[in-house]
Amino acid sequence: MRDVIVAANWKMHTTPTDAGELARVIAARTRIAGVARVICPPFVCLAVVRESLAAVDPSVSVGAQTVHHELAGAFTGEISAPMLVGLATWVILGHSERRRDAGETDALIGRKLGRALDAGLRPILCVGERLEEREAGRQEAVVRQQLAGALAGHDPASLRGGGLVIAYEPVWAIGTGRNASGADAARMAAAIRAGLATAGLAEDGESTSVLYGGSVTSVNIGEFLAEPGIDGALVGGASLKPDEMAGIVARAGLTAQGRGLVP
Ligand code: PGA
Repeated sequence: MRDVIVAANWKMHTTPTDAGELARVIAARTRIAGVARVICPPFVCLAVVRESLAAVDPSVSVGAQTVHHELAGAFTGEISAPMLVGLATWVILGHSERRRDAGETDALIGRKLGRALDAGLRPILCVGERLEEREAGRQEAVVRQQLAGALAGHDPASLRGGGLVIAYEPVWAIGTGRNASGADAARMAAAIRAGLATAGLAEDGESTSVLYGGSVTSVNIGEFLAEPGIDGALVGGASLKPDEMAGIVARAGLTAQGRGLVP
């Protein structure tokens, strides 16, 4: 049975002074069996969040928001996968804000994926179409192309073994308060699984968790998790609010229960 996952993408929010306390409060308010919880703070807050979680609830994992595609070298300001070992166990890759602002291409994201897997970081690979692509009816083709580009050349066994997770995040839904519908996210998850099968991940891609991301809240999470093909959420804005996280993870707990993931 696929993992049920709620991942918090804090983006460029929090400082080393306040991140530990926020992580502590969220961990305490989301203690729900069967849900894998991941908090992804800015790089400079990884250590303090990790320490805070180790003290209050080590079952909450820590993730980074990106990683460099080289191991080391003259890359001013960058962070490589081996540097994250001991600080994080997950990493978000190919977020649309990095595709947009840092010019990340599918090929580059594919190289990052290899570094993440080699370092033992569990990857959350983000895909999703822009508004004009959706309006042109190209959403499925776009995510299939993003997947194929990032997964090209990777051994399916290492992707499976590394616990690859896909986040479907339509760009027009990120930070806009305008979420996709549950049925729509489910259709896109099916397209993603078809793409995963093409890449050699099981015959139907069924073993890989697919998350929805884009203006997820405690109010709309139920619509997504009512879909059997959606396995959790990548949460941005709402992930900085403990009340919101409590509601989202509680709803994910019901899905975990329904799937028999709770002992
Ligand atoms: P949002 O962000 O929940 O604020 O829309 C989601 C994301 O970018 O991962």
